[in-house]
Amino acid sequence: MFVKKSRKFQIILLLLMTLIACGDNAKETAKVKPPTAAPEKTAPAAVVAQPEQNPVPQKTRDVYQWYCTQCHGLKGKGDGINAKHLTVPPRDHTKGEYLETRTDKQLFDAIKLGGLAVGRAPCMPSWGNTLKDETIHSLVRYIRELCECEAL
Ligand code: HEC
Repeated sequence: MFVKKSRKFQIILLLLMTLIACGDNAKETAKVKPPTAAPEKTAPAAVVAQPEQNPVPQKTRDVYQWYCTQCHGLKGKGDGINAKHLTVPPRDHTKGEYLETRTDKQLFDAIKLGGLAVGRAPCMPSWGNTLKDETIHSLVRYIRELCECEAL
């Protein structure tokens, strides 16, 4: 008699436990959903917006041709006419392996403040007195286009 009763009790207890466990699970999945749902909504928008946000205007390409090519070369390969006169070779802006190790901020500072400011050679001149910040940001985008790379 006692054994039977305790078995029934055990079964009920088991049922209850599974119910509670299921209930908890349901709550947890409900808890997990919102944060995963949110980025899903914003991700496609960000992907679509990106090309519009960072176009490299012709003006920037012209600035590069005017101020940078004598050292960095017409196509940014580091082979401008001045290159052979410099103690440190101008950076090849088409080389992703190096440029992806540099952040956009480092490239910006190198252009604005000169090579020394970012621990590079002083023969990379500073352009802060010649070019606006906006133009320098755009030059960074242009260099990212040349190297077909982004900061890692
Ligand atoms: C007088 C020659 C000269 C001119 C002109 C010049 N650069 Fe440079 N640049 C260099 C040299 C040399 C280096 C390599 C410095 C080093 O590796 O230590 C360099 C490096 C760089 C780097 C990489 C910095 C790094 O992290 O290694 C960037 C970005 C850069 N130049 C952008 C520009 C831009 C943009 C212009 C035009 C506005 C420009 N440079 C004009 C000589 C020049």
